[in-house]
Amino acid sequence: MNRLIAGLTFAALVPVSAALAADVSNGANIAAAKCAPCHGATGAGDGVMLASLGVPVPPVPWTDKTKMANFTDQKLIDVITNGGAALKASPLMPAFGNQLSAAQIADLVAYIRSLGK
Ligand code: HEC
Repeated sequence: MNRLIAGLTFAALVPVSAALAADVSNGANIAAAKCAPCHGATGAGDGVMLASLGVPVPPVPWTDKTKMANFTDQKLIDVITNGGAALKASPLMPAFGNQLSAAQIADLVAYIRSLGK
């Protein structure tokens, strides 16, 4: 019985510790591959694809901590997972929930939070 309880406790703790152990450098790698075309190599919101897309509302620079403070972590997760259209923002911000795991999205949020001053 104790072993069963210990096993259940462990299973319950794993997702929590995975979320806490968000990996900034993994987030940076994902951002370089999937986000930089629009958000720029440094997250400044100056990606090369924006001009050709005719983006009316440029992304908020991730390097601007004051502006980024307007976004809760949950809001960042939502926009990355569901895309801009779901949040009545620009539909040019794609949804990544179908290609990135929750852990990868947590890594991206940790990376975004690590930027700027
Ligand atoms: C095809 C271009 C494009 C790509 C690729 C893209 N985004 Fe965006 N993203 C946008 C645009 C445009 C906005 C601004 C939406 C608005 O405010 O209306 C945006 C907004 C955001 C926001 C809200 C805060 C901000 O910067 O304005 C977050 C967070 C975000 N994107 C994260 C990501 C992440 C993480 C990736 C890569 C996994 C990514 N985006 C890839 C175009 C893109």
